Amino acid sequence: MSERRLIEEWLPIAALGEESVRERRSMTALPPTYYLHVWWARRPLVASRAAVLASLLPADADHDKFLHAIGIHGDPVASRRRIDAAKRSGDRFEGQAYEYSRAFTYSPNAADRQWIKGQVSEDLGTFKLLDPTAGGGSIPFEAERVGLSTFANDLNPVATLILQATIQYPALFGLSVGAEYRRIADKFVAKREKLIGSYYPAEPEDACIATNYLYARTIHCPYCDGLIPLSPNWRLSSDGIGVRLLPAKGDGPLTPGRVCRFEIVDKPADHSEGTVSDGDATCPYPDCGRVVDGDEIKRQAQAGGMGEQLYAVVFKRRVLTGKTASGVEKFKWVRGFRAPRKEDDNSALIAERLAEKLSEWEGTDIVPSEAFPENTNDSRPIQYGMPLWRDMFSPRQLLCHGTSVEIYRELLDADRTANALTDLRRAAFVYLALSLDTLLNYGCRSCRWDVVTERVRSIFDRHDFAFCSSYSEMSFLVAGGGYDWAIEKTAKCIEELVELVRPEEAAEAKVAAKAQKRSARGAELFISSLAAAAEVPYSPPPVTITCKSGDHLDHIEPNSIDVVVMDPPYYDNVMYAELSDFFYVWLKRTAGYVEPSLFRRLLTDKDQEAVANVARFKGQKGAKVLAGRDYQERMAAIFTECRRVLKPNGVLTLMFTHKATGAWDSLTTGLMKAGFTITASWPINTEAEGSLHIKDKSAANSTIFLACRPRHQQPATAEKLYWEDVEPLVAKAVRERVQKFQDAGIGGVDLYLASFGPALEKFSEFWPLERGTPRPQIELEKKRKKQGELFPEEIDPYAVTPEDALTAARREVKNWRLEQLTHRKARTDMDPVTAWFVLAWDAFEAPVFPFDEALRLARAVGVDLEKDIVGRLATKKGSDIVLLDSQQRAAKMSWGRGDGSQTMIDVLHHAANAARVRSLEAARELLEKGGWLNEPALHVALQAALEVLPVSASFSKIELTPTLSGFGSDFEALENLRRLAFTEQVDEPTLLSKLRMEEALQIQ
Ligand SMILES: C[S@@+](CC[C@H](N)C(=O)[O-])C[C@H]1O[C@@H](n2cnc3c(N)ncnc32)[C@H](O)[C@@H]1O
Repeated sequence: MSERRLIEEWLPIAALGEESVRERRSMTALPPTYYLHVWWARRPLVASRAAVLASLLPADADHDKFLHAIGIHGDPVASRRRIDAAKRSGDRFEGQAYEYSRAFTYSPNAADRQWIKGQVSEDLGTFKLLDPTAGGGSIPFEAERVGLSTFANDLNPVATLILQATIQYPALFGLSVGAEYRRIADKFVAKREKLIGSYYPAEPEDACIATNYLYARTIHCPYCDGLIPLSPNWRLSSDGIGVRLLPAKGDGPLTPGRVCRFEIVDKPADHSEGTVSDGDATCPYPDCGRVVDGDEIKRQAQAGGMGEQLYAVVFKRRVLTGKTASGVEKFKWVRGFRAPRKEDDNSALIAERLAEKLSEWEGTDIVPSEAFPENTNDSRPIQYGMPLWRDMFSPRQLLCHGTSVEIYRELLDADRTANALTDLRRAAFVYLALSLDTLLNYGCRSCRWDVVTERVRSIFDRHDFAFCSSYSEMSFLVAGGGYDWAIEKTAKCIEELVELVRPEEAAEAKVAAKAQKRSARGAELFISSLAAAAEVPYSPPPVTITCKSGDHLDHIEPNSIDVVVMDPPYYDNVMYAELSDFFYVWLKRTAGYVEPSLFRRLLTDKDQEAVANVARFKGQKGAKVLAGRDYQERMAAIFTECRRVLKPNGVLTLMFTHKATGAWDSLTTGLMKAGFTITASWPINTEAEGSLHIKDKSAANSTIFLACRPRHQQPATAEKLYWEDVEPLVAKAVRERVQKFQDAGIGGVDLYLASFGPALEKFSEFWPLERGTPRPQIELEKKRKKQGELFPEEIDPYAVTPEDALTAARREVKNWRLEQLTHRKARTDMDPVTAWFVLAWDAFEAPVFPFDEALRLARAVGVDLEKDIVGRLATKKGSDIVLLDSQQRAAKMSWGRGDGSQTMIDVLHHAANAARVRSLEAARELLEKGGWLNEPALHVALQAALEVLPVSASFSKIELTPTLSGFGSDFEALENLRRLAFTEQVDEPTLLSKLRMEEALQIQ
């Protein structure tokens, strides 16, 4: 086996990007690993398998065979282009868009395995792979599917339980674990019906079933004492149905009886105004109408004064649609909305039942009475009067969830007493616990009603504990919904997991089911086909799952791991432990009785978690900087542990993404300090969309793969190099790769991120490095200011960090992009403000992007953001910058004189505005009068602006969002102006040429 590995030479980045997106494009057909249970920042399976295999295979491995083994059996990029073109032209796509199923559905077959084995010259099971921060388990799951010995570890017990259910049980037990799960789920269902059936009132009309109850949280108006139902709007569906409030005024302000009733209306014009905006409330009683400050809402909530009011019931009605040829009646379910009735309010009964139960449950530890932690990054539950975890549920939700736990424990105890708790059954109980978590996720006071899909959204639609002033309560007992849905979802998931890890067994079961003319899915599959499937020989590869901090993997021998593939936390992106407590407090009361060792703590471990967690340093000076330093140290410790267990010739492949250079600096400093050097890097565009996909707000789409090796001692004779020698090499390395990245579909801010890879590769080759001459005083001052007096060490003026390499990379990409955007006309001619505008659009592809990023760009082009940009070309909103189009600038009078004494972008904006409000000819005259028609600087600016502004619908046939339409109009005005006056001097924008060529090809 050659020393260098495939990942150090080649990776099919464009195909992997497209397959990664394709894997998750359909929310209704996600891989089972995603929907078994919530976990945050999961990596695509196809990208994970590619990372695993390419880290193991030799550099000269056959590319086609590699693509086959990872399931890419055609050209997904070409397919995507065809789909995009068909979409734009409005044509129906003929035949199959892709020639093969999504890559992750393909499990390596015997021939693939044989080939891999031949390449690595040993049995696959002898190779050991470690993922020390495995989370939801994409990487170890794929390692297992390839047949490697796998070590999967995560600090978080919820993640560890998910790992067991994803990686261990399906491989170990096959389809029989699904059958066992169905058996205990059936018992659960039989008991639950009897216990909670009475909590949901019957619908007034025949053939109707209530599916969702929509509640508004309430406070009392401090001015008139009216009960205010809180909601940002009263929409119910996208076709105009909504709610009108009918406020009863009593005998006027401060008299009893001031309560709202609700009426369902069909037109948006008839909806009442929302009662909450930006955290403040507006009293809906016409004789008051005062604004109630957000602090007053919180005060009432914390004093126990926040209630809730039912404002609409969503139901489904069974409607006769006709008859079949044989005369059998056909029905369908149709959704409807109704106003609440008196009979819907069974809150007194629920309160009574809950009070009875709670006193019992407190003794038996059935519902989570732990306090929501004070010291977190998001204390909104406490601020809004929910100090205990169980307060995040309405009384009826809590009663149902508590009853579920009670039944779960009864079933478990019965099996334990009967000595029937086999390993298989324990696994089935874990799945049942995960299934009940689905209902927590969709059954708490943080679940919004989604008017577009007309469904309830889960709490973790977002990555935080935002307060929902109005929420949707799902009816847990509705046939096909609630429990039925959650239980069936888990069953389907188990079957699909088995299908991916033990494909032969699943195929055999399907054949057997088919022979008996039964559905190849669902309960019948197990009853009819288990025996047949059990005949298929299978021995799972060894899997070791642990729940430890990744810096202390004492169960792994030194120098024993062949490959580490890991996807660590991304700095401050997700606070895993804080979020997962929502599930942890329930799981410890269900699965915790099956796997007690995972659930000994009160809440999950935040102290050892490797995230930049500001809350851990609350109250301390420079908490943000301290959190960043803490992340760096923790990651360095995890990398050091990886270095200890990795064989000297082993490879560590790291996946990482973050827009902020600070996060990259922390991570890679840790990596190098732990003794690794970066040998290759690949940007995979895991979230990419079509080329015309333009966003309102910027977002990074790429995950960067870094291949790393243990660093060996530098040869003693090596010539000593300084940063000043290495910086040009870094720039050169970036320049050499950036075109390739762009060709692979990487653009915008991702191009800058992608350039970090080659920059760090070169940098780490020479690390540790120092400067030959001290850092300029001004930069030192900035660093001192940032660091404050937090750390005892003095700032070393000769020190060099990865951030220096990243700055060099950014600069190089910026210059290169400017050359491209101006069609290499005269980059030096572009004034800095215009360059900032052009590069901002180019990088962020959106008018809204983070202020910090804008500042970095401003420094790179040499403008003063606060003085030259804010208030002129853009406004500052919170932590974002928002660009202005020509008309917005005209309205704000925020532009220069247009005679060019300011900047070229001012001249362009004056012209675009003239074209938009008067005529194209007026715009041309304006330029002629100013003497701009033959001015090369204007041509360069026009060229670049046309390359970056969003293309309007009249050229692209794709409607822009309202946020973007003004910029699209600027594009249209400038392009028409180009056609009128500058065809000689300014080329057609690249995107329009491409569209024209695509159209021509289609006509042929
Ligand atoms: C980006 S996620 C991994 C996601 C995973 N690759 C997937 O596809 O689901 C990072 C994980 O690191 C874990 N983690 C954080 N600090 C850790 C530590 N000190 N030791 C081990 N795991 C840690 C978090 O709990 C989280 O699950």
